[in-house]
Amino acid sequence: MIDFSLTEEQLAVKEAAREFAQSVLLPTVIDRDREMRWSTDEIKQMAEMGFLGMMVDPKYGGGGMDAMSYVLALEEISKVDNSCSVLMSVNNSLVCAGLETYGSEEQKQKYLTKLATGEWIGAFCLSEPEAGSDATMQRTTAVDMGDHYLLNGTKNWITNGNCSSVHLVIAQSDKSQRHRGINALIVEADWPGVSIGAKEDKLGIRASDTHTIMYNDVKVPKENRIGDDGFGFKFAMKVLAGGRIGIAAQALGIAAGAYELSKTYALEREAFGKPIAQHQAIAFKLADMDTFIEAARLLVYRSAWMKDHDQAYTRAGSMAKLYASAQAMRHTVEAVQVLGGYGYVKEYHVERLMRDAKITQIYEGTSEIQKLVISRDIVKGNLYS
Ligand code: CAA
Repeated sequence: MIDFSLTEEQLAVKEAAREFAQSVLLPTVIDRDREMRWSTDEIKQMAEMGFLGMMVDPKYGGGGMDAMSYVLALEEISKVDNSCSVLMSVNNSLVCAGLETYGSEEQKQKYLTKLATGEWIGAFCLSEPEAGSDATMQRTTAVDMGDHYLLNGTKNWITNGNCSSVHLVIAQSDKSQRHRGINALIVEADWPGVSIGAKEDKLGIRASDTHTIMYNDVKVPKENRIGDDGFGFKFAMKVLAGGRIGIAAQALGIAAGAYELSKTYALEREAFGKPIAQHQAIAFKLADMDTFIEAARLLVYRSAWMKDHDQAYTRAGSMAKLYASAQAMRHTVEAVQVLGGYGYVKEYHVERLMRDAKITQIYEGTSEIQKLVISRDIVKGNLYS
């Protein structure tokens, strides 16, 4: 039985994130987006608020919170600033969760303690020029040299590419073993042979720090491998299953943020002698937004609830991401329509949310990949997972 009634603690986290987003992020978000400026001060404050290691055990410097609190916070941040919320999602659900769940005690002491507090930022390096949806096609190699791996290759579209101190790099060690020959390695950004390409000039999440990263004969000590030899692909899949809940929460926040702005505007703006919210053409748009966004919220909360209750959540997370990202795309377009000419200019925020929405259908597995994950689970005969 799923019980979504939120505790006082969860509501306090949501309120704190809302207050932070409105007072700290909102005043500068348009300029940072326009200038593609990485948000140094804002990220520092996010770290101080404990938003970068929310679910990590306090003994490693984290907040010890549940996944429900995390998605509530992410939803509020994403209503305003998705360059900051993607950093938050990657650091929490891919990097910190990956290290905490599968890392050795030494790796946790050395890396997780700094990543959970936000002293360091992490990046998750899976995608390559020729390995996007087909993640087994890794061309980056990690050749076993005895006491270390020699890492060579290029990773593309890496979130936190330049601002991160630690990379979790997925690389092929034994091609003959296909996905079972892949390893996950912890690489420090300032090691010799690591170089960072130019920042990507993107449609949305423009302030987000997206880069290509090149690895040229980088020596990675054996103790920096996560898990057993050949565990890297499964590591990436398991970690991404949780990451998709984060991106689903981001998409929900984008849709909900656009809806809040549309509602406020439609109740104030008058045409033909009354607020436009009272014209059926606009009222029905608000009714659709309210209904479909609430449905997305239930899917997102359901996946977080399942994670918190140790239930298999891979399919639930993919369903939440698939549906919430579609609502983000659809309702941000509608929000621009509701605001009309105002919606088309930067000052009113909805055009940015519309641009930000698209990436939620692409990163951490495209919508088509989510359908693959969901349908494979159905075919296996699982009713609900
Ligand atoms: N949990 C555990 N194991 C899993 C798993 C999961 N969720 N999914 C697959 N596996 C295991 C399988 O059991 C199988 O293991 P065995 O052979 O030992 O039984 C192995 O992994 C291979 O599985 P498949 O045969 O299903 O693999 P596939 O080649 O068909 O690919 C896929 C599966 C789901 C399509 C996968 O390639 C995929 O998720 N692709 C999308 C990649 C992606 O999401 N990239 C995002 C980049 S990261 C990012 O965007 C971060 C950012 O910066 C914002």
